[in-house]
Amino acid sequence: MSEIIVVAEFDYVIFGGTGDLAQRKIFPAFYQRELDGQLPSEARLIGTARTKIAVDAFRERVAASIEQYVGDEFIDALALKRFLARLDYQCVDAGTIAGYQELAERLASAPKRTRVFYLATAPSLFGKVAEHLHKVGLGTGPQHRLVLEKPIGSDLASSQRINEEVGRYFDETQIYRIDHYLGKESVQNLLALRFSNILFETIWSKAVIDHVQITVAETVGLGGRAEYYDTSGAMRDMVQNHLLQLLCLTAMEPPQNLESDTLRDEKLKVLKALRPISEQDVALNTVRGQYVSGSIDGEAVKGYADELGKKSETETFVALKAMIDNWRWAEVPFYLRTGKRMQERYSEIVVQFRNVPHDIFTNAGSGKRGSAPEPNRLVIRLQPDEGVRMRLMTKEPGPGGMRLRSVPLDLSFADEFDQRFPDAYERLLLDVVRGNRALFMRRDEVEAAWRWIEPIIHAWQQGDQQPRSYQAGTMGPAASSNLVDRDARSWHEDMPSITTR
Ligand code: BG6
Repeated sequence: MSEIIVVAEFDYVIFGGTGDLAQRKIFPAFYQRELDGQLPSEARLIGTARTKIAVDAFRERVAASIEQYVGDEFIDALALKRFLARLDYQCVDAGTIAGYQELAERLASAPKRTRVFYLATAPSLFGKVAEHLHKVGLGTGPQHRLVLEKPIGSDLASSQRINEEVGRYFDETQIYRIDHYLGKESVQNLLALRFSNILFETIWSKAVIDHVQITVAETVGLGGRAEYYDTSGAMRDMVQNHLLQLLCLTAMEPPQNLESDTLRDEKLKVLKALRPISEQDVALNTVRGQYVSGSIDGEAVKGYADELGKKSETETFVALKAMIDNWRWAEVPFYLRTGKRMQERYSEIVVQFRNVPHDIFTNAGSGKRGSAPEPNRLVIRLQPDEGVRMRLMTKEPGPGGMRLRSVPLDLSFADEFDQRFPDAYERLLLDVVRGNRALFMRRDEVEAAWRWIEPIIHAWQQGDQQPRSYQAGTMGPAASSNLVDRDARSWHEDMPSITTR
């Protein structure tokens, strides 16, 4: 059992407190921290939204969400009662000044506490909220923090504008931009794997690695987010942030330590080293897709346009080939893909090694034939069955030649660690209170990612490149396989359902 460290007293104000993210992720995550005894006795969680509701009604709503999103085995009546008593509610119209003064009065009773303002609202409101908080004297002082949910803009210019607006009232050291993938246990484990095992670091380069694949496959469709998603698409929603962050953690140089800026400096260097995909190369190096009707797990699902209720050119799938122009990775492709309504939900990073330089087995000179070695492969499964699997060659037992077989060397986190894996938000929410910015994106990182992504989106629009159809329940359009096949490689598709441990 790990040691419980209670953080300092805080007031956490959640803008968009009645919204989907707050109810589905933020409050359930805080509740789990309550259950683990990690919340200080006086800490308050204050929801704000435009809806005029009484505190009791707000508490009831949060209680219902916790019951819905937290497993039954974690519902503890006493802890839930304690948790609900921390909740408060203030009606605030985020875009106007209405309600901010009242919010300030609520917070005035504890002026010394760390204050966190979590903006789970539309990004177009970020600047306004920062301005209004400032107007009523909230948020000044280094112990007060502003959390921004993605998306930070929809392109480089809008992201810069938001960062500028917010930056007028909050210092960069007070701003926490969430990419919840960085809070996932398995993603942090990537750091442990790479930098606490000498074994990997010495072979982590073009000398030994042939290519890398990053897959984030989802089975969900639009859910209730049609309006947002249709103006965003998979490139902005997933690649600009989550997939590029995974790429950075896989490719970056060893940071000197885990201090926020040291780590983020190294990630930024990777983003800056990404080879721009020119307009002419976009068709060759990227694939965009949109699902049509199909079936997942035996259940029929609608196509994207039907779900949306109209035709659309938004992509629900992206595959691309990225190159990193530096000494470590020169000419090592990083193939990335993500999509909705795919065959199975799983995320993984596959590091495919080169083959041995000389095969001594198939022509051993003994007159007997063996079998050829296959290249080693390291699969880091991020979800759902978190673990690390290395494929190694071994000799099949028995006399009569050297028959080789590729076998897995497995680490399943669930088998190794008999404990619950906290949701990403549980860690990130309290990292903000602790002032630990390492797992949040700095402004220059977000902007560097947009700088790389934007020309691709632009070329899609200019070239009128329509998304290619793929059947729901498959691994994307055929062109996605071609992207990799063309380089005489193939996507690794060892689904969780067929992987036997
Ligand atoms: C969010 C995206 O950031 O990440 C969603 O907006 C996506 O579209 C989600 O479904 C995936 O997160 P996870 O943790 O379920 O892999």
